[in-house]
Amino acid sequence: MEPLGKLCAAKIGAEVEDTLKQKFWAVGGGKGGVGKSVVSIMLGSMLARKGKKVILVDADLGGSNLHTLAGIRYPIYTLADFMQRRVENIEDVVMLTPIKNLRLICGADDILGLANPKHTQKERIFNNLKKLDADMILLDLGAGTSYTAMDFFLYAPNKLVIFTPQITSIQNAYGFIKSSLYRLIIRTFSKDGMSMALINELVQQEEDGNIDSIAKLKEAFTVLDLEAQRKLDNCLEQLNINLIVNMVRTESEKNVGNIVKDVANNYLGLTPDYLGYVDHDRILESSINNMTSYLSKSADSLAGACFYDIASKIISKSFQEKNPDPASAHLQMSR
Ligand SMILES: Nc1ncnc2c1ncn2[C@@H]1O[C@H](COP(=O)(O)OP(=O)(O)O)[C@@H](O)[C@H]1O
Ligand SMILES: [Mg+2]
Repeated sequence: MEPLGKLCAAKIGAEVEDTLKQKFWAVGGGKGGVGKSVVSIMLGSMLARKGKKVILVDADLGGSNLHTLAGIRYPIYTLADFMQRRVENIEDVVMLTPIKNLRLICGADDILGLANPKHTQKERIFNNLKKLDADMILLDLGAGTSYTAMDFFLYAPNKLVIFTPQITSIQNAYGFIKSSLYRLIIRTFSKDGMSMALINELVQQEEDGNIDSIAKLKEAFTVLDLEAQRKLDNCLEQLNINLIVNMVRTESEKNVGNIVKDVANNYLGLTPDYLGYVDHDRILESSINNMTSYLSKSADSLAGACFYDIASKIISKSFQEKNPDPASAHLQMSR
């Protein structure tokens, strides 16, 4: 390729990369029931209200329920149709929701065996999601640290980890972050025998077969060349994690996000961003069977105001746009 052609190709490549960085947000966390799906639908609708074209993807393969929260009782198409090639074009499984600017790809829990798709199937999903016409795509993940949940989580350049102030939930969230780092490291070094030998040696010393402290790994890596050390640092930089504490009931619980942030920093060398807390909202809890009606009034609700603020932060992170708009100012005053 002639130099100008190369330059253009590189520029286009970088632009595609930038768009992907803005677009994809994964919503994960170790435990079921902490509010990942509620966060997905609430943030999705807030981002949509702020004028972004949003697509939610129910990536909880095996336990999908996002369509119910989005007011779709019987999905016509689901991700299963795309995965099983009944539908070739992913755009055709994107459903409208009652919320303007918010569309949804429903989950694929109808047929057993789809909960753990093969690598090639996941690649096909990722490659096609990239092509969707949307400003933002939110991936609602299943509970736990299955390969599927991890792969979706690592795929999205932006990652949300949701947890509640309960100690078990905090431990699960930290375990989830640790597992994702471990998986990223394994993936990065899988073809590098020397590095893998060091990683395996260290992991075998740990109770949970995971990396316990990045400092130990970094120290072990000092025997390797600078390239390996640089790659390890790259893994840490790549893991762009954002924390949300859900179902907060007391003042002190609001600080739980900072605790997880500090521990992830001290032990794993990560620098997660604590995006904020969401109040426990009894009205939201009792509206779960009718979330669309809750969403239409959510601007004045306890949790709705929190989600609105977090959505503003997400927009300014993804698009470097300055907020708040007047509606947000209103919300801030009404809190
Ligand atoms: N901020 C909140 N206030 C009150 N209840 C909440 C809140 N967030 C979630 N819930 C409750 O938690 C339940 C589980 O949430 P869900 O999003 O389905 O969890 P997950 O997707 O992590 O399994 C919801 O059905 C709802 O009753
Ligand atoms: Mg869920």
